[in-house]
Amino acid sequence: MKLLVTGGAGFIGSHFIRHILSQSDIELVINLDKLTYAGHLDNLRDVAKNRRYRFVRGDIANGPLVKRLVRQVDVIVNFAAETHVDRSIQDAAPFLTTNVIGTQVLLEAARQASLHRFIQISTDEVYGSIAKGAAKENAPLYPSSPYSASKAAADHIALSYFTTFGLPVIVTRAANNYGPFQYPEKFLPLFITHALEDQPLPLYGDGRNVREWLHVTDHCEAIARLLERGRPGQIYNIGTGRGHNNLDVVKILLRRLGKTEKLIQFVKDRPGHDRRYAMSVAKIKKEVGWAPRINFGSGFPELIGWYEEHRHWWEPILRQSKAYRRYFVKQYARRAS
Ligand code: NAD
Ligand code: TYD
Repeated sequence: MKLLVTGGAGFIGSHFIRHILSQSDIELVINLDKLTYAGHLDNLRDVAKNRRYRFVRGDIANGPLVKRLVRQVDVIVNFAAETHVDRSIQDAAPFLTTNVIGTQVLLEAARQASLHRFIQISTDEVYGSIAKGAAKENAPLYPSSPYSASKAAADHIALSYFTTFGLPVIVTRAANNYGPFQYPEKFLPLFITHALEDQPLPLYGDGRNVREWLHVTDHCEAIARLLERGRPGQIYNIGTGRGHNNLDVVKILLRRLGKTEKLIQFVKDRPGHDRRYAMSVAKIKKEVGWAPRINFGSGFPELIGWYEEHRHWWEPILRQSKAYRRYFVKQYARRAS
């Protein structure tokens, strides 16, 4: 199998490339990534010299480039996206350009080349806040943020390419991922790195929002199985079926590091902040026999250990990245006002 993986220099994409290259039947992985602030080739240093791996810097919305690359593969796995909800609140435009237009450019190239599979990586956030129970794959979509709305739009466009053109598209909707190499603007890496530095932990609202935490390697395994056994035209939820509220998670973190709860700083809530995400994962279990292997009780302490041991990875991002600093200055100014 020859794959075009987009957004492979980001958090989940880099884990997926490592995962898929460990399979001997994979002949080629082309990683197309624009290297935005969130993309780091360092995340893939261990596979950079693999002769079945090739990196191309570029934009998924660049039609001619995408067409050229698509001719060399039989499958696309589309991770490339703008992914941070708070950034989408500050400026939605890049979310529409990459997540919606970029996805359509990939789909069109895949259609013209009659690719064997197109996996669209999506999120539980498209269902919106779930007051009770758990969203099944056929639940209506109520995205709350420009980020989740752009992902919902991409899901619909991807599925329309199946219905209208017969392109074998699969849409996956995953819960919040955690694991090594996650950019320290997202909740867990932000709070772990801040706690390690004795910096305040900005908890939104009352801290009772609920998220499911899925280990990134479990997510990658689910995608690999769906590549082989998923049914075209279908949506698959990928989650754990277990929610945790943010405040409880922060308390576990602080206990683990032996830090005071005084570091918790309750700040103004995120506008449109979804209270609870929850998905049913019965379909993927039944159809491809996937279930998560790493539970949060062991995965979270391991993650804290990883950030403790990999300061060389995140310290330069925190201290040197101009994009990171600019974003945080704006973010904190908004919350204080
Ligand atoms: P990330 O922000 O860590 O990485 C995104 C990558 O995409 C970066 O390497 C970036 O350079 C690249 N990129 C951005 N715009 C691009 C463009 N126009 N062309 C080419 N490359 C571009 O993201 P992530 O957390 O690894 O998420 C990957 C995918 O998984 C996204 O589609 C996201 O919506 C989805 N997802 C993420 C989570 C999560 O918890 N992180 C949960 C469910 C679904
Ligand atoms: P985040 O990692 O942004 O993911 P999501 O896309 O699910 O919103 O945030 C996870 C949860 O943590 C969410 O309820 C918002 C909350 N959060 C904070 O309380 N403070 C923060 O600084 C961040 C980034 C997130």
